[in-house]
Amino acid sequence: MSRVLKHFIMLLLGFCPLGDQLGTTPNIRDIVVGRCYNYMTLVHPGTRYDCEDIWTHFEDTVLRQPSCNVAVEDYRQMFRSMTQAPPCHTSLFWSKTRPLMHSYAAVMKHLWTLEDTLAGYMFNDLVWCRQQEDAGFDFSACPEWSACTNHPVYSLWRQASQNFAEMACGNVTVLLNGSISDAFNRRSMFGSVELDSLDPQRVHYVNLHVVASLGGPQIEACGQGSVMDLTRTLQTRGFRWTCTDNDQMLMALQCIQSRSSCSPTNLKSMLFN
Ligand SMILES: *[C@@H]1O[C@H](CO)[C@@H](O)[C@H](O)[C@H]1NC(C)=O
Ligand SMILES: *[C@@H]1O[C@H](CO)[C@@H](O)[C@H](O)[C@H]1NC(C)=O
Repeated sequence: MSRVLKHFIMLLLGFCPLGDQLGTTPNIRDIVVGRCYNYMTLVHPGTRYDCEDIWTHFEDTVLRQPSCNVAVEDYRQMFRSMTQAPPCHTSLFWSKTRPLMHSYAAVMKHLWTLEDTLAGYMFNDLVWCRQQEDAGFDFSACPEWSACTNHPVYSLWRQASQNFAEMACGNVTVLLNGSISDAFNRRSMFGSVELDSLDPQRVHYVNLHVVASLGGPQIEACGQGSVMDLTRTLQTRGFRWTCTDNDQMLMALQCIQSRSSCSPTNLKSMLFN
């Protein structure tokens, strides 16, 4: 995992403190297939996917080989049965800004994150792995991401992230965290997979937002540190880009989200000064 990868690892570790690894999510088949029907029927009515077929490819991929051996490419067959292209100017990438990304996406309804794609929607927050000895899901425990060369969960997200970035067109938006020292991290999913998969021929502008947490600290900003490495890379690869520090709306959203540190006066000054 690039920075995004690391991000996902952190998330996963966040869900399983003290290395106490969760096993495969109970009822995973019903959840995955159910979410697929939900997506086609209620979330994006009019789209058509063969949910049972997607499940079959998924199950085959995960159960065919030992848990730590599910490579990114192994999911290609499954992803072929769920191809999708979000509209241009809607792709939102993020790194270490998950809660903010969620509120931003909730307000900017046209934006698509990976979680809005069929794959992201179906597999969000789930865990899966095969049993050591037997070709069934292991519901009692799964290896940590860091313990595997090719972790089945990580490999799926990596392929999903790659597809998502390859499909991006028009303007893309990137939310980076200005309160950490590696706002742009080459080992994150954004830095290691998505950035390299963006196509300068398809992407018109990469619009970066570096956002510090409300109470600070402000460690990185446009034109400094790792963000400058990112903009250099973008430049070299032929992308047009913009970079904005602490965008008003993003600060106001954090204010609303945090409640405690957000008085009506604060919010008003953020929005109207
Ligand atoms: C930045 O990262 C820190 C540490 O992970 C986190 O607490 C904070 O909420 C993040 N800030 C934003 C704006 O996402
Ligand atoms: C794309 O981004 C550029 C630079 O921020 C902006 O001038 C332009 O209006 C944007 N276009 C769309 C369709 O959002």
